[in-house]
Amino acid sequence: MDIGRRAFFLASLGISIGTALYARIFEPEWLEVSRESISLRDKPLPKTLRLLHLSDLHAGQDVPYEFIEQAIDAGLAENPDLVCLTGDFITHDIPDPERYKRILRKLSDHCPTYASFGNHDGGSWAARRGGYPTILQMDKVLTDSGIKTLLNKDAVFKQDKAKLRIVGLGDLWAKSLIPEEVLTTDPQKAKEKLPTVVLSHNPDSKDALKNFHWDLMLCGHTHGGQFRLPVIGAPFAPVRDLRYVEGLHRWNERWMYISRGVGNIWGVRVNCRPQVTVLNLF
Ligand SMILES: [Fe+2]
Repeated sequence: MDIGRRAFFLASLGISIGTALYARIFEPEWLEVSRESISLRDKPLPKTLRLLHLSDLHAGQDVPYEFIEQAIDAGLAENPDLVCLTGDFITHDIPDPERYKRILRKLSDHCPTYASFGNHDGGSWAARRGGYPTILQMDKVLTDSGIKTLLNKDAVFKQDKAKLRIVGLGDLWAKSLIPEEVLTTDPQKAKEKLPTVVLSHNPDSKDALKNFHWDLMLCGHTHGGQFRLPVIGAPFAPVRDLRYVEGLHRWNERWMYISRGVGNIWGVRVNCRPQVTVLNLF
């Protein structure tokens, strides 16, 4: 090999090793706190509410509890009025459930906290991959932590005169998404309801929710794609509709927010930092 080719080979090797180390060691725990403001135009709130959104904590061998606690602390430092969690609390099973409860309890000790489930938390999709056949185990950890779990159910959040309806839906891939149990397609009934925030793990679920009435949908699932490339974007995001992989979007006169999530799978991220988000709703 001549000197020029050898230098090129060594430079390429160095860049590859550097990128791999960055993707594996540095970026997965380089947390970003994002802030967005959302006007619930049709049903404005009498005061601004600060909603902390966390998704895809993915406790397991690739995401240590120390990092999950760091993300929760960073979110709570924003002093939210309520917290919404959109599933994938684990990757396979629950490592040290009592420790997880102590960490999650920080959220519910601060303010009302609501959760929906993701494909990894249990059900038909998880069971085919060695996970839990139902969400019962994860549901117990969450409820023991003071968190209100919503599986095709709703709850009302109140603070002074400001009220929100929080709807948690089952996961699309787990085949537990049953919107008709909790949402309406009747415009007159929808008018009578409070501003409605839907927690639905997978952003692809929007298509099944098109004819139902809601104002804002919070999602996760994609992890932002985990690998984001210039121009190309996120080629590996696990969704059919690659237009909705992260961030705030206007969709059919409603809002969608997709979190890049706190955790990950495979332990790597490139140009796609983990994220907690504060949404100022007014
Ligand atoms: Fe996930």
